[in-house]
Amino acid sequence: MATTVVNQKYDVKDLNLAAKGKLRIEWAEQWMAVLRLIRGRFRKEKPLAGVRISACLHVTTETANLAVTLKEGGADVVVCASNPLSTQDDVAASLVKDYGIPVFAIKGEDNDTYYSHILAALAHKPQVTMDDGADLVTTVLTKRQDLVPEILGGTEETTTGVIRLRSMAKGGVLKFPIIAVNDADTKHLFDNRYGTGQSTVDGVIRATNILLAGMNVVVAGYGWCGRGFAMRSHGLGANVIVTEVNPTRALEAVMDGYRVMPMSEAARIGDIFVTLTGDKNVIRQEHFQAMKSGAVVCNSGHFNVEIDIPALEQLAVSKRQPREFVDEYTLADGRKICLLGEGRLINLAAAEGHPAVVMDMSFANQALSVEYMVKNARKLEKKVYPVPAEIDQEIARLKLDSMGIGIDELTEEQKEYLASWSEGT
Ligand SMILES: NC(=O)c1ccc[n+]([C@@H]2O[C@H](COP(=O)([O-])OP(=O)(O)OC[C@H]3O[C@@H](n4cnc5c(N)ncnc54)[C@H](O)[C@@H]3O)[C@@H](O)[C@H]2O)c1
Repeated sequence: MATTVVNQKYDVKDLNLAAKGKLRIEWAEQWMAVLRLIRGRFRKEKPLAGVRISACLHVTTETANLAVTLKEGGADVVVCASNPLSTQDDVAASLVKDYGIPVFAIKGEDNDTYYSHILAALAHKPQVTMDDGADLVTTVLTKRQDLVPEILGGTEETTTGVIRLRSMAKGGVLKFPIIAVNDADTKHLFDNRYGTGQSTVDGVIRATNILLAGMNVVVAGYGWCGRGFAMRSHGLGANVIVTEVNPTRALEAVMDGYRVMPMSEAARIGDIFVTLTGDKNVIRQEHFQAMKSGAVVCNSGHFNVEIDIPALEQLAVSKRQPREFVDEYTLADGRKICLLGEGRLINLAAAEGHPAVVMDMSFANQALSVEYMVKNARKLEKKVYPVPAEIDQEIARLKLDSMGIGIDELTEEQKEYLASWSEGT
């Protein structure tokens, strides 16, 4: 399987879906003001002329706009999926047919195909890697070390990927520098919080059509994604319960007005459970055993390991699919537990991921970080670097401009005061 796909020029579900995909890519583009500005500059300056980029990202309308921007900058880009269930097949088709960008991604692909698509993207011999979850870099290190000499560096989009890459750097196995796009303020404070917050609600509702008002919604993990999802669920009238392992974050949830308790207690009272931790087996056998019949369980963290699905499969005597993206398991005592989107990120599996307005900033960080990497790679070590502060702040400034919002500037007197210590009471 791997070899066949590697030799193909692209692998998408159906090129006939391209027309619909193009319209949706153009719809997203109008909400991506900062990326559009960068695209305009890239078109003139060609800062990425001839640079080969392999991008392993969720294949969405926003990613399409990023890929087109990189191509306008002169890059030779190929795209593969960063999750088997997040690909928008019409977008993949349009990228190939309308924009001439090879894509290897089919929604619902099995794990073997997923990895054969990553290998196909690596056959492009990237000089820059672009990851969302670090599967691309992991595959370079485990299967294509021969590519390392030509790789200048890479970028990483999400929390889980940054954690994996930092672990590689710490273990001395990372072979080139990486820029942690996730850690830019203009990324995680907005994408993880408002993007995941809204789109996770969207995914749960699209999959189930349930009313959140009055429901006990259990939010596992009160990081940036968890905060956003808790805030939006609360806004829709849900009774939010937070579970955490970090005392400071748990305290923050308490003072934000939510109930905080261990999962063993929350399991008994929750109607809807959403994991957003980046951790594994956060909901497991003992929790399924305590849940009410009809409980809905899903994940919006990066990998599908947050819910122990094999344990649920083992407890179940039967399984049926009452709706797309809903697997209803019946346990031996007759209770039913519904798992959404096979435990994969629900906002991308059952909805469309983050809205373009917020991905505008994330992907502006990606585009400018790639440009920075190409210029500076030779000076960087085999480490995980933050997005340079100037880039981060410039993106915030441009985003505000695009929204027609002005802010104050420090006066000379204020600058001096803020840099001094002598003035007190
Ligand atoms: N769905 C999406 O589109 C999307 C977008 C951005 C990030 N993510 C992913 O979501 C996950 C969370 O990202 P984040 O930026 O919020 O990370 P974060 O580090 O800010 O927050 C994670 C939180 O989970 C807590 N946690 C860890 N193990 C736990 C456990 N067993 N029980 C309860 N809480 C636990 C941690 O203490 C932390 O507070 C990551 O996997 C990230 O890659 C998904």
